[in-house]
Amino acid sequence: MNAFFDDWDDAPTPAVAAPEAPVRTTLAPATAAESVAPPGGGLAPVKAADKRVVNGHGDINQLAPFRYPWAWEFFLKANRNHWAPTEINMAQDVQDYHHKLTAAERHMFENVLAYLTTSDILAMRNIGLAVMEKMTAPELQIYQARQVFEEALHTWTYQHCIETLNLEQEEIYNRYRVVPAIHGKIVLANRRLEKILRSDLDLSDRDTLHEFALSYLFFAGIFEGCWFYNGFSPIFALQRRGLMKGTAEQFQYIMRDEVLHCAFGLRVIRELMHEENLTLDPKAVAELWAEADATEEAYAHYILQEAILGYSADLHLGQFRFVANRRARQMGLDEPFPGAQATLPWLDEQANLRKEKNFFETRVTEYQTGGSLAWE
Ligand SMILES: [Fe+2]
Ligand SMILES: [Fe+2]
Repeated sequence: MNAFFDDWDDAPTPAVAAPEAPVRTTLAPATAAESVAPPGGGLAPVKAADKRVVNGHGDINQLAPFRYPWAWEFFLKANRNHWAPTEINMAQDVQDYHHKLTAAERHMFENVLAYLTTSDILAMRNIGLAVMEKMTAPELQIYQARQVFEEALHTWTYQHCIETLNLEQEEIYNRYRVVPAIHGKIVLANRRLEKILRSDLDLSDRDTLHEFALSYLFFAGIFEGCWFYNGFSPIFALQRRGLMKGTAEQFQYIMRDEVLHCAFGLRVIRELMHEENLTLDPKAVAELWAEADATEEAYAHYILQEAILGYSADLHLGQFRFVANRRARQMGLDEPFPGAQATLPWLDEQANLRKEKNFFETRVTEYQTGGSLAWE
């Protein structure tokens, strides 16, 4: 698998032998934060087999031996996609934005930026505060710590674009507060994610565990895997016409991170469900997709009140449903939108940056750290 290419439809559920539930002793730690000593308080080496995604009782300060070596690989791959927004030339974007974009294109561009920047703050807080602290294996937390940084980097990137283009900051950042179609997506995300924000969440309770898995599925599979993944595509549509190429290049870097965030999150959830013998309630999952679809439809029709050349609300929503089906398959769930076709067949190519070098004439594919990255 190309680590940055979103092409892992048939990713198998990892074969992990489910350990017996640990016996809780009076001295055993109750939460991840307390998991620094072996049960009983005695001295004993860490065994990989004792680790759990959640509800573990091992030492979370010791990285290896790994139970989830794939998580460490995710961390290494993530570190190969490092950039700073100030490294990308935005000069032509200033010209494009002020002199070439139509009013409809500027409306779309500004509102996409307004939605994304609020979303990435929310993403940073969610992965750091709601998800990461619930994990009881350090190799999972290490990648999520990197993810927290990446979400902050994405916020910096949007801010850099807003500053460079001389947009009115207060107005852009407040759009989600005053535009119902943007507000709706953020409100839905907050409602889903706030349910698992509490640090004293008792994941030994089955209903709470189900809520946690459902919320993380919303975050990784929909919020990151659909809304972010498909959220950049209106800007890429401009890029394909030679417009706003600096902004689009910034977003290509972000998209590459998000492909990994989604893949990692869904894998953690599959692992958790396997270990905890948990099945998601189909009705609850169906509700998840229906809510996401309704808010996305309102958003698409707002940002694309007028279609722009090569892009429309129908194309955007069609691609959302096509990608949503992929996320469901990756989780072994029923497709929520049977028969949905790819309306933006070029979007996956954006994730596979190796192929984009000549077509988009960007420098993305040439950038890597350490000089040792193989792209396939
Ligand atoms: Fe992000
Ligand atoms: Fe993310």
